[in-house]
Amino acid sequence: MNEKMPLPFNPRSPEFRANPYPTYDYLRSHHPIYYRPERKDWVLTRYADIVEVLKNPSFGRSEGGLANLMTAKQEQIHKFLSLRQESQRLMKLWLVLLNPPNHTRIRHLLRTPFTQSRIQALRCQGHASRPHIQAKVDDLIERFKDRGKMNIIHDLAYPLTLGVNCEILGIPEAEWHPRFRQWSENLSVVADLDVTPIDNERGLLAIAGLAEYFRSWIAKCRSGSEAQDNLINALIKAADEGKLSEEELLGNCIMMFAVGHSSTGNLIGSSILTLLNHPDQLQLLQADPSKIEMTISEVLRYESPVQGISRTAMSDIELSNQTIHRGEVVNCIIAAANRDPAQFPDPDKFDIRRQPNPYLSFGRGIHNCIGKHLAKLVAEIAVGTLVRRLPGLSLATASLEWEDSFLGRGLKSLPVAF
Ligand code: HEM
Repeated sequence: MNEKMPLPFNPRSPEFRANPYPTYDYLRSHHPIYYRPERKDWVLTRYADIVEVLKNPSFGRSEGGLANLMTAKQEQIHKFLSLRQESQRLMKLWLVLLNPPNHTRIRHLLRTPFTQSRIQALRCQGHASRPHIQAKVDDLIERFKDRGKMNIIHDLAYPLTLGVNCEILGIPEAEWHPRFRQWSENLSVVADLDVTPIDNERGLLAIAGLAEYFRSWIAKCRSGSEAQDNLINALIKAADEGKLSEEELLGNCIMMFAVGHSSTGNLIGSSILTLLNHPDQLQLLQADPSKIEMTISEVLRYESPVQGISRTAMSDIELSNQTIHRGEVVNCIIAAANRDPAQFPDPDKFDIRRQPNPYLSFGRGIHNCIGKHLAKLVAEIAVGTLVRRLPGLSLATASLEWEDSFLGRGLKSLPVAF
C-alpha cells in the first residue's frame, strides 16, 4: 500500500490511469467513504459499503442526472442547441439511468437475447441469425496468423465485439456507419468522473449522430416485409404495441449500441495483457483450457473493465457512520472493491484458480449488467482461442497506453507477436 498517496484523488491524471490500484488501496484504508467537497460527491472503495449501496433502494438514479450534468456550457454552443437537447432527452431514457417502474418495464423488453439459456446456446454452435462467435474469432486470427504479429485491440477485440453486438441488434455489416468507432469512443467517457466540458460535447454529439443513424435504421426496419428475429425488431414491435414510446425506442437502441461492445473488447485486451504479465498463470491455462471461465472471472476482478458506477441518495442515509444527504452522488469504485482484502484474500495477486470470486464488475442489484453472460462468453472464446492457437504469444511493445477514460478501463492498443 502506498501510504504517501496524495489527495485529492485525481482520476484524470496519467499516473492514476496507468495504475489506479495504489490510490484505491490508500482510499480504502484511509478514507473508505471519501467526500469531495469541490464536487460535493462521495467516493466509496470498500466492498461491503458498495454492495449495501447497490442493493439499497434508497440509492437510485437522479433521473436524467447524468444528462443534466451535461448542460454546463450549453449556451456557448447555440448552433448545436437542438441536437444537444435531443441527445439529453434520449439519454434520460436509457435503461441504465432509470428507476422503477420505467426501469422494470424497459429491462423486461430488452432482456430476451441475453438470458443465460440463450447465451449458453451460442457457446458451442452458431445459428443462422445468431453470432457464430467461435467462427468469427477463428476468421480474425486466420487473417493475421502468417504475419507473426497482430494488434489484439484493433485486429481482434474491436471487430469481434462490434460484430457480435450488431448481430444481436440486427445491423448487418453492410449497414455499419463509418463513424461507429468514433461515436463509441466519444460516448465511453460521458459517464466519467470529473468529465471535461469538451468530452461532454463530444458525447452529446455522438448521441446526436447515433440518433440520426438509428432513426433512419428503425424506419428501414419498419418498411421491411420480413420480421427478423433481432433486438431492434423486438423493440419496434413493443413500440408498435404501445409498450415503449418512440423516444424510448430510439434512446435504448443508442444505449444498447454504446454499452454493448467496448467493455467486452477491453476485457479481451486486459485478459491477454494480464496473462502475458503472469506467465505462470498463462501456463496453467494452457495446460488446462477448462480454466478459461475462471480466468476471465479473475481478469474481471483484477482489471475491471468498468471501474465505477454511481448512485444518487434518494433521502438522507447513514452509511458506516457518515450521513449522505438526499441528492448527493455516491461513486462506487467497484474496481477498488474487487481488491478489498476484507473480501478477497491476497487481492493484488492474479490467481486464475481463485474461488469463490464474487467480483462486482457487472454491478449488483436491479441494474446488474444485462449482457454479462454474453460478454463472458465472447471473452472466453476469444482469449481461450488466442492462447491455444498462438501459444508463443508475447508483448510486442515496451510502452502501453490506456484509454483516456476513468470508468472504462481498456488499452488503446495491444501489439503482440507470436
Ligand atoms: C465485460 C463487459 C461488460 C462489463 C464489464 C459491463 C458492466 C456493466 C455494469 C457494471 C453495469 C451496471 C451499471 C450500474 O449499476 O449503474 C452494466 C449494466 C448494463 N450492461 Fe453491461 N457490461 C459489459 C457488457 C455488456 C454487454 C455485452 C451488454 C449488451 C450487449 C451490456 C448491457 C448492459 C445494460 C443494458 C446495462 C443496464 C442494465 C440496467 O440498468 O438494468 N453490457 N454493465
